[in-house]
Parts: sequence; structure tokens; C-alpha cells
Amino acid sequence: MDVLTTIHQFAGYVVALVVLVAAAMAFGRARDAREFTAGPYVVASVLLDIQVLLGLAVYGMDGYWEHESVLLRYVHPALALLALVAAHVGIKRARGQQMAVDAHHAAGRGLVIALVLVFAAVMTSTLAVRGIL
Ligand code: HEM
Repeated sequence: MDVLTTIHQFAGYVVALVVLVAAAMAFGRARDAREFTAGPYVVASVLLDIQVLLGLAVYGMDGYWEHESVLLRYVHPALALLALVAAHVGIKRARGQQMAVDAHHAAGRGLVIALVLVFAAVMTSTLAVRGIL
């Protein structure tokens, strides 16, 4: 399990960066009125999916539901799942828009919400793993 845990820890920061870039791209594309393609936003949400699956594997196999910190037992997984939902809902709403600008904005809003939740998830895990809270 050590390898999966190390990948999950490292990938957390990568995922946060990718979601940040995708959100910035969405608002940049909206400003430039670019044709809507969901590609970059889907990449960010798929990375989130993979990170959540990795987290679930680490959590399940290493019995983290017994971890001393409530942040790692419940809060970190819950924030991560909400981030995943926000990204997917944003993309789904984007696909339902008629205008490209509205579509980029919808995807961008979902990704910004996901980004805030990912940051909160990273913070909670860091505090819990270090034994601070
Ligand atoms: C948005 C998705 C996620 C991100 C960005 C993320 C990020 C992180 C990061 C950065 C760490 C390392 C903390 C540190 O060492 O300072 C970590 C640890 C951990 N995460 Fe996640 N995580 C996500 C989803 C999940 C989910 C869904 C679960 C479980 C259901 C989970 C379970 C864990 C566990 C058990 C650890 C502790 C590993 C250890 O002992 O070092 N994570 N996560």
C-alpha cells in the first residue's frame, strides 16, 4: 500500500494544479468567446476521479476509518467527493448550454468550486497526517 499512498499524496498537489489551470482556461476561453470543447475540463475531472479512486483504495485497504483524526476519517474524503461532484456537474451544465461563452462559464464555475474543495481536502489531510488536528 505504500506505493499507492505515496502516489495519492503526490497526485493531490498535481490534481489541485490541473483543476486550477482548467478553471483559468475556462474563463480565458469565455472571454475570447472560443468555440466550446469540453476536453481540458474533462481531463481535470478524470484526474479528480482517479485521485478519488486512489484515495478510496488507500482508505479502505489501510483502515483509515479508525484513524485518530476526524479530518482524515470523514472530512477529507467528503470534501474530495464534493469536489468531484462539483467538477462533473459544471461540465454537465456546460454541455447543456447553447452559447459557447455560457458553456465555458458553467464549466469554470464548477471547476472553481471543485478547486476550493480540493484545497480544503489537501489542507485537512495535511493537518491530520502531521497530527496537528
Ligand atoms: C480531490 C481528491 C483528493 C485529493 C486532492 C487528496 C489529496 C491528498 C493529499 C495531498 C494527501 C497527503 C497529505 C499529506 O501527507 O500531507 C492525502 C492523504 C490521504 N488521503 Fe486524499 N485526496 C483526495 C481524495 C481522497 C479520498 C476520496 C480518500 C478516501 C476516501 C482519501 C484518503 C486519503 C488518506 C487515507 C490519506 C492519508 C495517507 C497518509 O497516511 O499519508 N483521499 N490526500
